[in-house]
Amino acid sequence: MLEGKGFIDEPIDPKLDLVKEINRLKKERNAVILSHFYVEGELQDIADYVGDSLGLAQAAANTDAETIVFVGVHFMAETAKIINPQKKVILPDLKASCSLAESAPAEKFAAFKAKYPNHKVITYVNATADLKTMSDIVCTSANAQKIVESFPKDQKLIFAPDKNLGNYINSITGRNMVLWDGACVVHEQYSVEKIADLIDEHSDAEFIAHPECEKPVLLLAKHIGSTTSLLNYVQSSSAKKFIVATESGILHQMIKACPDKIFIPAPSIDSTCGCNDCEFMKLNSMQKLYNCMKYEQPEVTLPEDVIEKARIPIQRMLDISK
Ligand code: 13P
Ligand code: SF4
Repeated sequence: MLEGKGFIDEPIDPKLDLVKEINRLKKERNAVILSHFYVEGELQDIADYVGDSLGLAQAAANTDAETIVFVGVHFMAETAKIINPQKKVILPDLKASCSLAESAPAEKFAAFKAKYPNHKVITYVNATADLKTMSDIVCTSANAQKIVESFPKDQKLIFAPDKNLGNYINSITGRNMVLWDGACVVHEQYSVEKIADLIDEHSDAEFIAHPECEKPVLLLAKHIGSTTSLLNYVQSSSAKKFIVATESGILHQMIKACPDKIFIPAPSIDSTCGCNDCEFMKLNSMQKLYNCMKYEQPEVTLPEDVIEKARIPIQRMLDISK
């Protein structure tokens, strides 16, 4: 039925009330819908749980639903499958990848790891299941500092695949982790010059950023954190205006939580490119979600040995993050 595509390409009657139909299918299938903050607003609003990578992994670990519908990117759905091998995990578009996950192919990483004996491997969750099988522990942007600090100071560490997050964690923990050379295509696009100009222009605004941004951008930030952390920050701060350096989808929740505040997306190097949108997250749509729930496809499947091995570092992260 997928015929080489990443999604079910079945025509849908334009008169169909997709919200109603998706909710009906959810009951019928005993399914739970988990959405990331970067997908379109309507896909966040229909979810049972919307959150950052850590919150979504925790929600996947705690659900009793038979089917998990993951509206995000592939590595997130894969993580949900690894935690729940007995459940069906489906996602609207199998091709919703991630530049960080793609930057670290398993064979190349194995060769890199071999160059650093006696190092433990901390893998950012934005990675393939194969990479996780080669890791001692997984982390997300929400718990990276805590995970790194769970190792003794003299323990040698490799951090993969995000060099920007790794650099940032090195700077706040005083560690000297060896970094894999990967980056997020969205967070690397911000223009430090344009952000500095915008901060000058809006002296009443606070600049906040995701740690996947490059160091010069992070140096300008009043607050750095995961998507959930950024969302919490704008609610607790007394400021009324924020310049936000992360994927544009998060603005949906920020505006909902603080309708009286102003949110300005941080400018990219090329202001005509729509670079603040993650092309992978934006592959999700209501139509694809509906078809995926109707046909229970595409489904995430993984070899049993990969599930067994990758579950160990993910479970360690979940245990530390309780
Ligand atoms: P969060 O874990 O902060 O939601 O980030 C996920 C992600 O893909 C960032 O680009
Ligand atoms: Fe990956 Fe970047 Fe998209 Fe997040 S925003 S899913 S890190 S490509």
